[in-house]
Amino acid sequence: MSFKVKKAVFPVAGLGTRFLPATKTVPKEMLPVVDKPLIQYAVDEAIEAGIDTLVFVTNRYKHSVADYFDKAYELEQKLEKAGKSELLAMIRDVLPRHVRCVFVTQAEALGLGHAVLCARPVIGDEPFAVLLPDDLIWSRGRGALGQMVDLAERTASSVISVQTVPNEQTSSYGIVSAPTFTGRYGAIEQIVEKPKPEVAPSNLAVVGRYVLSGAIFPILEKTRSGAGGEIQLTDAIAELLRNDPVLAYQFEGRRFDCGTRIGLIEATIQYALDHEDLADEARAYMQAALAEK
Ligand code: UTP
Repeated sequence: MSFKVKKAVFPVAGLGTRFLPATKTVPKEMLPVVDKPLIQYAVDEAIEAGIDTLVFVTNRYKHSVADYFDKAYELEQKLEKAGKSELLAMIRDVLPRHVRCVFVTQAEALGLGHAVLCARPVIGDEPFAVLLPDDLIWSRGRGALGQMVDLAERTASSVISVQTVPNEQTSSYGIVSAPTFTGRYGAIEQIVEKPKPEVAPSNLAVVGRYVLSGAIFPILEKTRSGAGGEIQLTDAIAELLRNDPVLAYQFEGRRFDCGTRIGLIEATIQYALDHEDLADEARAYMQAALAEK
């Protein structure tokens, strides 16, 4: 069976409580790192991986995510009249022409597993990717999802991204055990959501990139609420593992947890230092600010 990954799901229907009060009106995914919202970084990574259909799982408070990918008529007219062609191209090229967007609603934030299930009518039974935009992955070469899609298509397996975390942090993540892990990947034997360090099977933590076989959907239909009272994607993956190969993959790149305040600050520093127009000023300001402290 061919294992081609062309569709990606972006679950953006969470409440974003760790960023209140900002997220009272601004969705977490629209918070900027330098000059782009988090969602744009994830979408760019997906398109680079060969994805042509973007499925956003949103809720009634997240109109700005749909608006962002829509045409901005008035703004375009103004920029055109003013002859600001560079800015015009920037807002017109938020998405390449061959890419289409589909929006589905998650009426209630019942958990990540439930959010992914909401995309089933668009995905069907094909393999697909899931990207959590608050995990921002910086890389110089092929993006993290592209690396995973290459592996998934080569091995016809589901692939979950992982990174090692300090033992005391296991209870914040899904944790996998992959005893045959060599180089960058290995088959997952066990996956558990938010285990305490004393019972965690390893310190390999799942981060927000997945390539999943369509076989996950019938499992998600039956998955009941787990850790935190939410329908957990991790629990469905634990079930998928019983019949299907699922690989853990340690991507090349640096992940910023932009679901936390410090993660967003670190990402902003990294991207500013990497930005051709801003790097010098950003570095000079940081040096001066640190010297004052
Ligand atoms: P988080 O665990 O980060 O939750 O969700 P959250 O609600 O976004 O943020 P906090 O913890 O309250 O600050 C991980 C991802 O899953 C999505 C979120 O939008 C985020 O991308 N999600 C979570 C949903 O789409 N629906 C849900 O019911 C839960």
